[in-house]
Amino acid sequence: MKTGIYPGSFDPVTNGHMDIIERSCKLVDKLIVAVLINPNKDAGLFSIEERIEMLKESTKHLLNVEIDSFSGLLVDYAHYKNASIVVRGLRAIMDLEREMQMAQINKNIAAEVETVFLVTRAKYSFLSSSAVRELALFNGAFDDLVPAYVSAKLKSKLE
Ligand code: PNS
Repeated sequence: MKTGIYPGSFDPVTNGHMDIIERSCKLVDKLIVAVLINPNKDAGLFSIEERIEMLKESTKHLLNVEIDSFSGLLVDYAHYKNASIVVRGLRAIMDLEREMQMAQINKNIAAEVETVFLVTRAKYSFLSSSAVRELALFNGAFDDLVPAYVSAKLKSKLE
């Protein structure tokens, strides 16, 4: 059984993430979407539990997708989950440097784990969780950028 991991912060999950999840879950038997618990980063807008809940709600139509969280090194988590593939989305050239660095570091410490990049659909190439948070904070429109459940959560969070 081929297991893939799609790791990220997902604060919150966007339609760009959803695009990558929906496409990559067809490439593996099981896709684990894993939210990073990062003690070195600010708390963020949503708690880890809220991010997980939004991901669960938004992916409930995808039968081979599991939602989880992890801390520590991604490759250690991949070993723990018996996963051989890490999925990442590439929006534009701005992502390439950081993504290549992460993939090469991971390859260096765990040669058996492959990072697979999916190029984001053009209509989502500008989209990021931080842009969505900012729009939400300053009353910009974000309804078509995130799943409906996330949109409702954002509205109630910022009320
Ligand atoms: O959504 P993000 O914030 O771009 O995701 C970044 C993530 C979670 C993929 C990355 O920070 C990560 O893998 N962190 C775990 C720590 C790790 O394994 N570091 C070594 C590779 S740089």
